[in-house]
Amino acid sequence: MNIVILAAGMGKRMHSALPKVLHPLAGQPLLSHVIDTARSLSPSRLVVVIGHGGDAVRAAVGAPDVQFAVQEQQLGTGHALAQALPLLDPNVPTLVLYGDVPLTRASTLKRLTDAAGANAYGILTVTLDNPTGYGRIVRGATGSVIRIVEQKDATDDERLIDEINTGIVVTPTAPLAGWLAALGNDNAQGEYYLTDVVEAAIKAGHAVVTAQPDEEWETLGVNSKQQLAELERVYQRNAADSLLVAGVTLADPARFDLRGAISCGRDVFIDVNCVFEGSVTLGDNVRIGPNCVIRDAVIGAGTRVDAYTHIESAKVGANAVLGPYARLRPGAQLADEVHVGNFVEVKNANIGVGSKANHLSYVGDADVGAGVNIGAGTITCNYDGANKHRTVIEDQVFVGSDTQLVAPVRVGRGVTIAAGTTVWKDVAEGALVLNEKTQIEKTGYVRPVKKKS
Ligand code: UD1
Ligand code: CA
Repeated sequence: MNIVILAAGMGKRMHSALPKVLHPLAGQPLLSHVIDTARSLSPSRLVVVIGHGGDAVRAAVGAPDVQFAVQEQQLGTGHALAQALPLLDPNVPTLVLYGDVPLTRASTLKRLTDAAGANAYGILTVTLDNPTGYGRIVRGATGSVIRIVEQKDATDDERLIDEINTGIVVTPTAPLAGWLAALGNDNAQGEYYLTDVVEAAIKAGHAVVTAQPDEEWETLGVNSKQQLAELERVYQRNAADSLLVAGVTLADPARFDLRGAISCGRDVFIDVNCVFEGSVTLGDNVRIGPNCVIRDAVIGAGTRVDAYTHIESAKVGANAVLGPYARLRPGAQLADEVHVGNFVEVKNANIGVGSKANHLSYVGDADVGAGVNIGAGTITCNYDGANKHRTVIEDQVFVGSDTQLVAPVRVGRGVTIAAGTTVWKDVAEGALVLNEKTQIEKTGYVRPVKKKS
């Protein structure tokens, strides 16, 4: 099967510089959702018809299995499909999708293509309470489809028809070139309508069949920001439902956002207003507090992530405790039972089993061993203004509060660092390290007072 995705329209009503099909839904361009669905049907050719913002579209979704056809002027859906013709295999049917209709299920498309087989013309239709704006399916006395009439060309009687053309069709490919070449644009919009091909197919002796989706939202397109927001909610509700069905507890399925893929173990709990991006894996019994943002992360069983924690490109072991207000940046690798508390930032650092950094610290470009206690206000000074350097803290080190570790530096096993120490030289195993400081006390000091003006 060939699949052609029409995506040349400009989307005037989005009021945006971004081509319509690149507006994100669940973090991915609308068109990427359609391409992913198309791919799941294993087409032999996959062609996207681009026009407005074509270069941006190409750059955003380009892939070895995607070919592009350019429609210089948007002269209608029939004209758009014609641009793809040279790239199609004439021996197999062609399924036509829209780049701005993102949520059609593959099973629905399969139902349509199965119904059409190799030779029939198939139309995905749906019956709407309010069909205004859509092309109507006109059926004859026997119930078979005779033609499709656009809203703007329809008579008052035809406008009463509530079965509409979703725009998704499948057609035999060999005769398509002739049918498209014969299209006229003598209609209300002066466009070459793909919908007019139905009559040509019937005339040429092809059966016309229809199929319906299970859900109305599968056929909804995006023309405005309101419609984009509505489909985003549909997507998120579906994502939340799949997790609930799989046994995940969501404090509120209406306040859950997935922009990628999530995989959860048993008895996972997710509180409200969390955003999951990229690829996220949560082990058994993981608890995620409210307002967390988690992107591309693996979190081990039994770990608790408290409120307002941000995690990006990080790996966390089992039974760890993070947050509230913790930040794991790319390359953070936490072993089991690690605690990372409020206002602690960890970047490109390994932290060993059971180590704790509970308050207000920066651990960057570091290798921290097991059983280490990092006191409040500890900073790894990893950047000398030009290059980054590593800090190594071996097992069982006690880092006193307000310590600066000037990298590159190595602190040996079991070292104790006194509070307020600047460590700029390596420290041998088992030592106590401190900076000489004097506490000066002047008795009877009088503080300046503000002058009255
Ligand atoms: C089309 C159908 C209508 C159907 C409706 C469903 C036709 C003539 N009408 O109408 O029966 O009910 O979709 O939403 O087909 N496009 C191009 N190049 C063009 C014109 C359109 O690539 O020259 C693309 C658009 O980017 C969009 C799709 O085709 O993805 C549909 O175009 P749109 O203008 O939205 O069609 P409608 O007038 O809504
Ligand atoms: Ca439309």
